[in-house]
Amino acid sequence: MSNKVTKAIFPVAGLGTRFLPATKSVPKEIMTLVDRPLVQYAIDEARAAGIKEFIFVTSRGKSALEDYFDHAPHLEQDLKSKGKDKLLEILKSTNMDSGEIAYIRQHKALGLGHAVWCARRLIGNEPFAVMLPDDVIAADKPCLQQMVEAYEETGGNMVAAMEVPADKASAYGILDVREDMGSIVSVKGMVEKPKAGEAPSNLAVIGRYILSPKIFDNLNAMKSGAGGEIQLTDAIAEEIDGEGVYGYRFNGQRYDCGSKAGFLQATVAFGLEREDLRDDLEAYLREVVSAREAAE
Ligand code: G1P
Repeated sequence: MSNKVTKAIFPVAGLGTRFLPATKSVPKEIMTLVDRPLVQYAIDEARAAGIKEFIFVTSRGKSALEDYFDHAPHLEQDLKSKGKDKLLEILKSTNMDSGEIAYIRQHKALGLGHAVWCARRLIGNEPFAVMLPDDVIAADKPCLQQMVEAYEETGGNMVAAMEVPADKASAYGILDVREDMGSIVSVKGMVEKPKAGEAPSNLAVIGRYILSPKIFDNLNAMKSGAGGEIQLTDAIAEEIDGEGVYGYRFNGQRYDCGSKAGFLQATVAFGLEREDLRDDLEAYLREVVSAREAAE
């Protein structure tokens, strides 16, 4: 079995109910941070980490995603004839070549573990990445790339990890740490969405994973877990006494774009990173803050 990670699964079948009414007709993953859809950030991160095959687990109503990754010859021709080279370049960088991207439908919303399992035949017998596009991570070295490098040392299964406030632990998969080696921790237990006060630590799983194909065997059992769903966390936890599980404390800032507050924060943060927007946006934010302070 090759140890190189070249395939990534992007589970994007969720209904996005937290963003209704927008998500009535627009997949959540197409919603934009500044001028790029959420999913583009995950794709760029995956490419930087050496991913060559992109597998999307979708559901009804997600066809805008397929159009987004397709070539747009008319638009390209139009930009070319108008000499808008910079835009053309940006547009082309979002194109996926034939065979580079695959879409698989999850027919029933049975949970994240089930969504990942749907892609099993496209992975085969090699380690693979899972990326949840809701978790947007700004980092000098892209998060998945950091993990691929760490995974070269550990093997087994690796999940991105981050400390969260104790009162937020029940929204995450939480790690029980066996040995803390700094950025890498070895794991002796994992709990998906622990009840208040029952979390084994405040080290949470964030949506980046490098997993062994053994996970598919574990998912075959279709055991339901937290919330009555087939949980990826549970299938990974079965490998604690098997191929091993490691948490990786990444360097970077994570935005929870599955929540409105997180999405807004990411919009501001990415806007401030952009040279063409920074000055105006910063001036506006200062103005708003001082007006609010003056009104208090
Ligand atoms: C999923 C995982 C959870 C993880 C979280 C990170 O939960 O099941 O273990 O901590 O992503 O964002 P979800 O947010 O989809 O409920």
